[in-house]
Amino acid sequence: MRPFLPLLLLATSALSNPLAPHHQKRVSGTSIVNLGNNTGTPSHLASGILYGIPDTPGQIPGFLYEDMGFNYARAGGAQVAAPGRGWIWGVAEYTNRFASALSNYKTARTYDANFIFLIHDLWGADGTQNSTAPYPGDDGDWSSWDAYLTRWISDMKANDATDGLSIDIWNEPDLTYFWNAPQAQYFQMWGRTYHRLRTELPSVKLIGPAFAGQPDASNNWWTGFLSFVASNASVPDEWVWHMEGGGGDMEGAYGALFNLLETYSLPNHPINIDEYGIYDEQVPAGSAWWISQLERVNAIGLRGNWLSGTQLHDFLASLLSKPNATTSSYSATAGGYFPNGDYQVYKYYNLNMTGYRVGSSPSTDLKLDTYATVGSDTVKVLTGVRITTGTWQVEIDDLSAVGLATSGTLNIHTWSFPATGGHFGEVDGPTDLGWYEHTYSGNSVTFPIYQTDTSTAYAFEFLRG
Ligand SMILES: *[C@@H]1O[C@H](CO)[C@@H](O)[C@H](O)[C@H]1NC(C)=O
Ligand SMILES: *[C@@H]1O[C@H](CO)[C@@H](O)[C@H](O)[C@H]1NC(C)=O
Ligand SMILES: *[C@@H]1O[C@H](CO)[C@@H](O)[C@H](O)[C@H]1NC(C)=O
Ligand SMILES: *[C@@H]1O[C@H](CO)[C@@H](O)[C@H](O)[C@H]1NC(C)=O
Ligand SMILES: *[C@@H]1O[C@H](CO)[C@@H](O)[C@H](O)[C@H]1NC(C)=O
Repeated sequence: MRPFLPLLLLATSALSNPLAPHHQKRVSGTSIVNLGNNTGTPSHLASGILYGIPDTPGQIPGFLYEDMGFNYARAGGAQVAAPGRGWIWGVAEYTNRFASALSNYKTARTYDANFIFLIHDLWGADGTQNSTAPYPGDDGDWSSWDAYLTRWISDMKANDATDGLSIDIWNEPDLTYFWNAPQAQYFQMWGRTYHRLRTELPSVKLIGPAFAGQPDASNNWWTGFLSFVASNASVPDEWVWHMEGGGGDMEGAYGALFNLLETYSLPNHPINIDEYGIYDEQVPAGSAWWISQLERVNAIGLRGNWLSGTQLHDFLASLLSKPNATTSSYSATAGGYFPNGDYQVYKYYNLNMTGYRVGSSPSTDLKLDTYATVGSDTVKVLTGVRITTGTWQVEIDDLSAVGLATSGTLNIHTWSFPATGGHFGEVDGPTDLGWYEHTYSGNSVTFPIYQTDTSTAYAFEFLRG
């Protein structure tokens, strides 16, 4: 890693930078982009959502799905209006939940998005179940679970709903909120269910374990699960977990997984973080940070969803709003949708960040991260803090790799992505902060990020040589 820039250059940039306050601040760290490190074609891996799709087809206009690059959905009828509490309340309540999930599946497929079916939700373990609700295999009795799978497999086939389909065998069994039964019973459920689904739905991806906890050699859910699937020949097609604790980072979590896979002689299958980001992180800065983190390790990412009831089935996981969204006049079926500030980050990520990706590293304190692409004309760097304030730097190395001189001046076009109005506010695009000239040498340019609020993300663009 390069040393920090001399204060002189920092001060010079500060004068020309609209983000700058009028006094010098201590630099907490530097996120570095390496333009010479081509990491492949972008496919906006982080553009998935957990729930967020209305059960009425077409309620959200198509362009709002398309512009954000919607490519992954995950649902299973949770929290639909009663009577729809799932299989454990009888077939009629199963049917209502299934109808919601099937509708969401069809919406996803309209946009060529993949769909992860949450069979634990359809069963009824969506977190609203009571403390005596049954779990598969209670007291060694699998009859209800077996009958449930028979019904569900039949319904999926009858509706021709297997293209683009993955199944999360159980969501967050490491939380009693979703699995209030012994751990050993969960492993048995996994093995039993995996082999049956593989046989009866051979084209469908079976993924998991969807733990709330990230991979960790001292977590007995992880060690127990990996040991079980290795001995049971029920290895998931993707390694899934959630990043919703407000801490951790993707390189650390992936590194821990990688070591565990070596320990248990398991294959390095793709990663799917099918819930990422806490609610506070679902603002432009937090989303830019998560996009950078997920892209670095080539992980598929789906935004977590912190809304409940009918709002869980609305707003594309807190990327949209509509009139009366936050009042008692909220209507689950009303239209009039508009994007929020966070949406604009995903739109830019999808529509503008084209060409090829280049490698980057976060600041060593893991607070600032960047995602960058090199297009046919323009280099684009998206950056965000993990919802904090302070001063960091972005360093862009190997400028000659995009045909620029190794020293000179670089005109950088800056955009801000504000979170005006919060999760339910309307923001129709980023704010153009204009062009600023930066002097550089040594084939590298560095400029400060004066982060005076916790939510604004920034994009920097410059022409190739
Ligand atoms: C708890 O939920 C189960 C279904 O999951 C139901 O059969 C049972 O009656 C419920 N118990 C109470 C006290 O509501
Ligand atoms: C995997 O585990 C399940 C549940 O215990 C069991 O029914 C199945 O026979 C096991 N399969 C293999 C290949 O070990
Ligand atoms: C918002 O709710 C108010 C009060 O119920 C209603 O009068 C108004 O028409 C609603 N606005 C829209 C755009 O639906
Ligand atoms: C993104 O691309 C569109 C279409 O080319 C363009 O109109 C828009 O200005 C770009 N946005 C930014 C922030 O560069
Ligand atoms: C290129 O970037 C990727 C992703 O950030 C990183 O894993 C890799 O080590 C980098 N390679 C080089 C040569 O810097």
